[in-house]
Amino acid sequence: MDIVDPPPSFSEYVLGLVQPAVLLAWSFKHYAVVVSETIFLRGQILAPIFRSRQVRDEAFGRFWINFSVARDEKGTPIVDKDVPDPSTLRGSSALIPDILSKARGVVLDVGPGSGTQMPYFADLATKEKASTIYGAEPCVGLHTELRQRILANGLDSKYHILSAAADKTQLVDALRREGVQFNDEGIFDTIVCIRVLCSVPNPAQTISDLYSLLQPGGQMLIVEHVINPFSLFGNRKGGNFLARVMQTVYTMLGWRFFIGDCDLLRDTETYLRNAAERDGGWKSFDLETRFTWSTLPYISGVLVKRN
Ligand SMILES: C[S@@+](CC[C@H](N)C(=O)[O-])C[C@H]1O[C@@H](n2cnc3c(N)ncnc32)[C@H](O)[C@@H]1O
Repeated sequence: MDIVDPPPSFSEYVLGLVQPAVLLAWSFKHYAVVVSETIFLRGQILAPIFRSRQVRDEAFGRFWINFSVARDEKGTPIVDKDVPDPSTLRGSSALIPDILSKARGVVLDVGPGSGTQMPYFADLATKEKASTIYGAEPCVGLHTELRQRILANGLDSKYHILSAAADKTQLVDALRREGVQFNDEGIFDTIVCIRVLCSVPNPAQTISDLYSLLQPGGQMLIVEHVINPFSLFGNRKGGNFLARVMQTVYTMLGWRFFIGDCDLLRDTETYLRNAAERDGGWKSFDLETRFTWSTLPYISGVLVKRN
């Protein structure tokens, strides 16, 4: 695996360490608001304890919409239709256009969130490489924003929202409801995982399920943040000690609880590698690790299943 990034400037480095603190504070604010509304406006005093999952989902949905949807000066959401100028993209956002341009055939978009990737799919759609796209988004609080972006980007005949998590049973049921026939050979030519595998509750099972839904010769397109690769026993991958420590600190401060179950310490690359073991490994496994000096290092690239 190549390390392609030059060392960060001092300010980039500091920003890379504190960025999760800002996100954590922001998501905590949304959680506190949702808990207050649940108790004082809806009168559901015990819901934050006994319906904790629902309350957290609502809070995460609001946080993610606030975080990912740009607004004009009047606070009206801006639904972007154009592919952003690549030179304006920073961090993980800069990795996405190139990876998504490889999507083709029947596509599963896992956890599309509020649909920030839609302009890229629209770009693909015009090139007719992606025939049908299914977006599996379990957080229903995000569906309205997602649908707006699908419409704004002219993808309504091509992009179908599945109210399902990336779990084989849920996906197959949701696909059957859409009239898709399931066979043992897999369904998808492309599975897109952008900033989602950090949040699935059982990564080994989920990634194995996704692998089994991939057609022979199909591809997984990956842009995922992962555990900082720092190791006391030979730091070959260029990880960073302080960034690794800060990942643990943010985790202890409740990162997973407040940020939709997101795990900062996940070794997603190993799960991906292991998923194809039953077939003797992937045909090609081409991942780069980026931003290894930060608390949000990323893996990005393309994995191809054997024929
Ligand atoms: C950090 S957001 C990323 C959204 C989008 N992919 C992006 O990059 O803008 C993570 C998304 O994954 C979704 N998610 C969480 N658990 C999931 C699961 N088990 N299956 C599918 N999606 C899931 C969340 O609802 C959320 O929309």
